[in-house]
Amino acid sequence: MLSDKLQGAINDQINMELKASYLYLAMSAWCDARNFLGFAGWLRKQSEEEYAHAMRFFDGMREWGGTIRLKAIDEPTQSWEGLLELFQSVYQHECKVSAAINEIYGIAVAEKCYAPQSLLQWFVNEQVEEENSAHEIVAKLEFVKSDPTALLAIDRELGQRTSAQSPSE
Ligand code: FEO
Repeated sequence: MLSDKLQGAINDQINMELKASYLYLAMSAWCDARNFLGFAGWLRKQSEEEYAHAMRFFDGMREWGGTIRLKAIDEPTQSWEGLLELFQSVYQHECKVSAAINEIYGIAVAEKCYAPQSLLQWFVNEQVEEENSAHEIVAKLEFVKSDPTALLAIDRELGQRTSAQSPSE
């Protein structure tokens, strides 16, 4: 049985993943409205991936006998100065998610609660990839600045993402 503290942390994480899903969907709409269809498609897939993350915790709680409590999701930010600022926000958000996952893992270890640890280890690894892929896009955008040809090339590349996993996976 999970402690109240661990259940609270996992419920907060379900909320955080759903918030990320909502935020990335708003970002996808922003890119779509500016005809950056590749960026929009990448973010939409990312939104789907965040929903899947929330459901992994949701199903974990069911299996571990925890009590699921869903919390409110605020309206996400819906305007950005440009693609660079938008993807810097993605990267910052992923860093916050990583910190939250590490915190939950720490609680599970401290409480000698073993059942959730393999899923949490999966999330630790997943967050390394999530941070890396967001950081890679930020670095490319910083490099090309506002060069239209280069931006369109990145847009085309990101548009090749066909699943909730990034193309490199
Ligand atoms: Fe589910 Fe991108 O963190």
